[in-house]
Amino acid sequence: MMDTAKFIEESIENIKDEVKDEKVIIALSGGVDSSVASVLASEAIGDQLEAIFVDHGLLRKDEAKQVEDTFKDRLNFKLVDAQDEFIEALSGIRDPEKKREIIGHKFIEVFEREAKKSGATFLLQGTIAPDWIESEGNIKSHHNLTLPDGLELKIIEPLRELYKDEVREVGRSLNLPDAIVDRQPFPGPGLAVRVLGDVTAEKLRICREANAILNENVEAEGLDKDLWQYFVVLTDSKVTGVKGDQRDFGYLVVIRMVQSFDAMTANVPDIPWPFLHKVSQQITANVPEITHVSLSLSNKPPSTIEFE
Ligand code: XMP
Repeated sequence: MMDTAKFIEESIENIKDEVKDEKVIIALSGGVDSSVASVLASEAIGDQLEAIFVDHGLLRKDEAKQVEDTFKDRLNFKLVDAQDEFIEALSGIRDPEKKREIIGHKFIEVFEREAKKSGATFLLQGTIAPDWIESEGNIKSHHNLTLPDGLELKIIEPLRELYKDEVREVGRSLNLPDAIVDRQPFPGPGLAVRVLGDVTAEKLRICREANAILNENVEAEGLDKDLWQYFVVLTDSKVTGVKGDQRDFGYLVVIRMVQSFDAMTANVPDIPWPFLHKVSQQITANVPEITHVSLSLSNKPPSTIEFE
């Protein structure tokens, strides 16, 4: 068992010793690892750390605001609104791997722009043990990053010896809210891999609304404790429905709820039918563009957790 208080104390000392009076930046995603790394470093060096949160427009409903509210009084927090840039770069792109590539490149471009403005010489990362153990040999313990304009950032990774449960303990000890500490994993490319086919502002809005309804219900029923991830996928299919006595033609969405330990395998547990009916009805009642709700039953393997 790790001594959490001792870990925090020693990490703070180490960060102070290493950074001295230089500046540090981090790409804060609001996920557990980058959040804990940010708060820990901020305890050590205060405003010498700039935590940059890039809103790529592919976030869940109210997510940017929740992250901002959590961190704005706690850290030197900067929200960068890059929504239009990302949506434009994704315009007309249907291939999932191409979407990932575009989002990855765009993210680096936006972050580098901010890194330059900040005058930082260190890059803080929320790397944890499983991140490098699996790819051991490829990642050196203190690698540095040279940005294209020649600016070299020295890397600090205060969580690199920890496992997820230990990171959560550190987060709790640093008084991070449960919503952050127990957050379900969310893919870097965000809703771009849950809006199948081309990504538009309208499809993102529809996916977000339906997903928020599922999330509220899962959390209200306490089902989230047993689930690894739960979300709604907006398919690229339109299906016939009926509204009053009129034919309707709207989107088909899929509810995906899985259990897993490490995302390598996943299974769909028994989910109470009354719960599913309630969510389905709420989605079609509140999101008029959706005519049909279905449930994903496939485990991983042979499926993957995400649809794209
Ligand atoms: P799959 O869909 O491969 O997902 O079963 C396994 C886990 O990884 C997440 N995931 C991603 N995370 N960038 C990420 O940061 C990605 O491109 C990506 N694709 C999938 C997924 O949410 C699940 O937890």
